[in-house]
Amino acid sequence: MQVSETLILAKANSTLNMDVIYGIIGDPIEHSLSPAMHNAAYESLGLSDHCYLAFHVKPEDLQEALARAKALGIRGLNVTIPHKEAVTRLVDLDANARRIGAVNTVDIMNMKGYNTDGSGAVCALEEAGVSVRGKSVLVMGAGGAARAIAFALNDRGADLHIVNRTPERARLLAEGVADDVGWNSINKLEQYAGNSDIIINTTPVGMHPHVDESLITSNMMHEGQIVFDIVYNPVETRLLKEAKKAGAITIDGVKMLVYQGVKAFTVFTGIDPPADVMEGAVRARLGGEQL
Ligand code: ATR
Repeated sequence: MQVSETLILAKANSTLNMDVIYGIIGDPIEHSLSPAMHNAAYESLGLSDHCYLAFHVKPEDLQEALARAKALGIRGLNVTIPHKEAVTRLVDLDANARRIGAVNTVDIMNMKGYNTDGSGAVCALEEAGVSVRGKSVLVMGAGGAARAIAFALNDRGADLHIVNRTPERARLLAEGVADDVGWNSINKLEQYAGNSDIIINTTPVGMHPHVDESLITSNMMHEGQIVFDIVYNPVETRLLKEAKKAGAITIDGVKMLVYQGVKAFTVFTGIDPPADVMEGAVRARLGGEQL
């Protein structure tokens, strides 16, 4: 079982006093940037007994992995593809994770699941000086990430519109979030893009190796708009290049990755970590690397 093996190997290879263990589970997991991000924060805070590891857990081993993590005294686990939804059936959920239907952060000691993706996205916008209250926000995509982001934006008073390749999924998400959330097919994107204050891409379009793809081009955007892409591989996606061409303000996917990690760190430890240190660790790892 990978959770035990990774932990034993890490302890054997470490000169650190690793008493307080956190980690991330996923399949695949080897390219995860979360260990670099969290370990940089521990180092900066002088938490020398803390360590964050990546655990490769296959879907069929998920339940056992969580039980073993608890038995081994692992304090908390982040959860990534493909486990975010399956974990909801194995732990208690806070109200936010329950309405989203996905978990990215588990407090293992209490077996309680949280979702920090939406609050992380809002934090990334706020850090760029953007308040979403009263702003028209176009969300492209209606999958797991879009769900988390849409609920968080609606909580903060954004005027939301969701477009998706499968319009029915956009409708279900919009209706689940609030009565006044608009929705449409992605084919109607052009009519909404220009009129939105903020555009957020939650789809994988533009991700490596399809780096030349973008759902919208510069002629559909304008100066002063905020364009946020949650794809971070590459860091500057075609969408963000097009947005810059139009004079829009861009926010890249590293910010989303960092701030969901910042929020998870706080769930795990009760400490507000240094976001700049975590961001630096991620950008250093991404420099030149294609995941
Ligand atoms: P995640 O958990 O990362 O959000 P997901 O739940 O698989 O991933 O959702 C992916 C989203 O990207 C969906 O909205 C998907 O559209 P469908 O609902 O029609 O599947 C969207 N998506 C994926 N590939 C796309 C493409 N090539 N063009 C447009 N939308 C795409």
